[in-house]
Amino acid sequence: MSKKQSNGASVSASRATFAAPGRVNLLGEHVDYTGGLVLPMAIPFATTAELRPAASTADYTFASDNYPEIRSLSRSDRSPGNGSWSDYPVGVLREMQRLGIEPPPFTLYFHGNVPQGAGLSSSASVEVAAAMALLAWADITLTPEEIAILCQRAENLYVGSPCGIMDQFVVTAAIRGHALLLNTRYLTYEHLPLDQDTFADCVFVVSNSGVRHSVATGDYGLRRRQLEAGQAILCERFHLRDLGDASLDQLNQCAGVLSLESLRRCRHVISENQRVRDARSALRTGDPESLGLAMTASHISQREDFQCSVEEIDFLVEMALRLDGCLGSRLTGGGFGGCTVSLVRTSSAKAFSQQLAQAYQKRFQRRLETYICAACDGALALAQGV
Ligand code: GLA
Repeated sequence: MSKKQSNGASVSASRATFAAPGRVNLLGEHVDYTGGLVLPMAIPFATTAELRPAASTADYTFASDNYPEIRSLSRSDRSPGNGSWSDYPVGVLREMQRLGIEPPPFTLYFHGNVPQGAGLSSSASVEVAAAMALLAWADITLTPEEIAILCQRAENLYVGSPCGIMDQFVVTAAIRGHALLLNTRYLTYEHLPLDQDTFADCVFVVSNSGVRHSVATGDYGLRRRQLEAGQAILCERFHLRDLGDASLDQLNQCAGVLSLESLRRCRHVISENQRVRDARSALRTGDPESLGLAMTASHISQREDFQCSVEEIDFLVEMALRLDGCLGSRLTGGGFGGCTVSLVRTSSAKAFSQQLAQAYQKRFQRRLETYICAACDGALALAQGV
């Protein structure tokens, strides 16, 4: 187990609470399980995990403000998930035990305000907050990569949700004022500043459609299988490791042997990787217009090729693009509901949010929650107090 970078999470008598934020993905959707590039940032919602003395009758107890269920386990318990909220932190404990880490007895108490089922990573937020607390309790230091992989495995193997690595990674490793550009094949990353001159004039507005999405039970898994079927054909034909290296030209050469679904899913992923590269240049050169264009193009690709949008989300994007000050807008997160993220001039952001909410209410008779978000710290930076 590597100890090359401290997670800063040692517990002292005065410090037994660990926080992990939510995230919004600016660009790079459905590419994090095929070696692609993603560009998320952490947002100021959080889950906190507070260590308390062990309940007298059980070694490990998990409780939450948000749910009535309290889950108690013995050290030797290896029972499967029970489909409740506590599967997320219990999955984290199981992954630690698999690595030979046995934390001393504890009660772990959660509070949280990350909107659920909204595509803002409430699950990863719980997992990473749990991991930070339990690693500190066991006096173990892991790198950001190791924490993210541990939490992703908990979700894949214990919860049974086929997610990629993006959410756990950014929730762990984000820093304030920056988006995180992550290569999901190599887990290399860079923090790209969002506060240089031209971007200081812009904010990201997240709009919650209220249509709930689920990575565990929705069409996410089906899309992923269709994508992977296409990826397998391209990899064999062109000796690629994954779609992260594929080109549209190579895809077109395979068009005759791919199902229409696989062709579309792969086209989304290959073009999306290019949009993230374009976004990186836009952030580096301070060009919000280009970032906005890439975001909107990403939405069209999700709608037409990945086919993971819904009517309410398409309406929000189309309406956003008609409002003053909006440079780009797209579905964010796992899809099939959840949120849009729009790049908006700061001076227009308030009016933008109000007008979008009014239009949504009128069209769907539903309340739209909007959040004007600044990029905030991930769990490691929060634990280090930087
Ligand atoms: C969910 C998953 C992520 C990622 C996104 C889509 O948020 O948890 O791993 O696949 O969907 O980009």
